[in-house]
Amino acid sequence: MKRKKGWIMGIVVIAVIALLFVGYNIYRYPAMFRNLSDNSLNDSQVEDLREEILSQSDVNMLVAYFSYSGTTRNVATALSEKTGGDLFEITPQDGYSNVYMQSNSEIRNNERPVLSDTVENMDEYEIVFVGYPVWWHATPAPINTFLESYDLTGKLIVPFCTSGGSDIDETMPTFLNSCEGLAVYGERRISNTSQIDAWLSELGLTEGQGQNLTGQDSTVSQSMPEVIQEAGTDILEFENLPTYSYRQQEIELENQGQRIYGVAYIPDTEENKVPLVICSHGLGGSYSTNAAYAEQLASHGIAAYCFDFRGGGGSRSEGDTTEMSVMTEVSDLEVIIEAVSGWDFVDESRIVLLGTSQGGIVSAITAARHTDRIAGLVLMYPAFLISDAIHEQFDSLEEVPDSYRFNWIIAGRPYAEDMWNYDVYGEIGNYTDKVLLLHGSADSIVPVSYSDHATEVYEDVEYHVIDGAGHGFSGSAFDEAVGYIFDYLQQIEII
Ligand SMILES: Cc1cc2nc3c(=O)[nH]c(=O)nc-3n(C[C@H](O)[C@H](O)[C@H](O)COP(=O)(O)O)c2cc1C
Repeated sequence: MKRKKGWIMGIVVIAVIALLFVGYNIYRYPAMFRNLSDNSLNDSQVEDLREEILSQSDVNMLVAYFSYSGTTRNVATALSEKTGGDLFEITPQDGYSNVYMQSNSEIRNNERPVLSDTVENMDEYEIVFVGYPVWWHATPAPINTFLESYDLTGKLIVPFCTSGGSDIDETMPTFLNSCEGLAVYGERRISNTSQIDAWLSELGLTEGQGQNLTGQDSTVSQSMPEVIQEAGTDILEFENLPTYSYRQQEIELENQGQRIYGVAYIPDTEENKVPLVICSHGLGGSYSTNAAYAEQLASHGIAAYCFDFRGGGGSRSEGDTTEMSVMTEVSDLEVIIEAVSGWDFVDESRIVLLGTSQGGIVSAITAARHTDRIAGLVLMYPAFLISDAIHEQFDSLEEVPDSYRFNWIIAGRPYAEDMWNYDVYGEIGNYTDKVLLLHGSADSIVPVSYSDHATEVYEDVEYHVIDGAGHGFSGSAFDEAVGYIFDYLQQIEII
């Protein structure tokens, strides 16, 4: 009898382990990724090719990358500088007017979006780095188009990514699906450019190991930008608003002993002191997220400061995403407001907050707490849903673990604790000056109803729902948003 019970117990334990394993895999990867085939070369074939390539006296490298909001571009640029490899940007021909919805459907349907440029001299490269942001735990579909557009046999393919928290392993099923017969080696998530040296050395790509890191005069080589970052959008023209050149300057601040990295955009105007817009990014974003807005502002005489929140998932500030919360970001923004008020080029009576997504809720709360310091508030698809989203994920605060997946980042207890009983609509209305609120009608991440609700608590709000736009404005939605912003800044006499 005892023996029978033992057997049953054993079977139950095995069944539970099997179920947990299956469940974990379902959670970890959307189901369709698990069936993707990997026909890349095996480890020993890769090693043979690697040795052969690294034994050559002259190794030509290409750093090809796709970047939506600039973070991967910065990593790729640093990588190209360090290796001497040529830089090539993978650009989807049609861009993304609604990045969240389009990217998700492309990945789910295994699509291959058309790219606008090709590498004419691909034959010349022995090593091809391929960089991308993690999208929905997968590779963005333009990467698959890129990999399948060339005969890359005999080259070493080295993937790298940036992300809000996901590791590169999550993307390998979709990456390898496009690597039939290819040698894929040394993939790495780069969260900070300071990690590149150690990674290259692990790959065996340091000069000390006999590599001749080769020239930059190939046909796809692009000259290094003189500026720190370039969003690359056309500068829009407005009647009655002159345009200016501007410079960029890295400015680091500190909050609670941790570094906050940022880039200031300073217009070359005749004014000694200019207005300043502080641009706050969303979940998993970085100082690059709002660079396109900063360029427009600086080109029309308004300084801007784009930065990484601590633990925000961006590449250069300190802190871990598990320590970050909306309120730690409010605290960062308070430190920034204090600091910028003392910058010699800033008119402290004309400081405006601009925030996208989570940066929107953070800006709204901070403005409500510092009404006397803030001359204007621009909120784009603000994430007023965070408290609801956390309640949807957990039944009680007690069950929130030390770390857990929240959208595409690994969040911690502070993220849930700070928002569990927080009534955002009860606080943000304390900012009684005019607010500009913009939301896309097709936003699938933060439903537009959250902004509709905000209009009821703001005393003076100009609200525009941009038709067809998603969570993030690009193309004509971006132009429309920029138009509203300049109009608003003129109305509140910032310019
Ligand atoms: C559509 C979309 C989906 C994303 N999905 C994920 C994800 O699954 N996991 C993650 O960690 N980050 C995710 N992120 C965050 C980006 O990977 C991260 O911000 C990245 O560094 C952006 O790089 P880029 O500026 O070069 O575009 C996503 C961002 C977008 C826009």
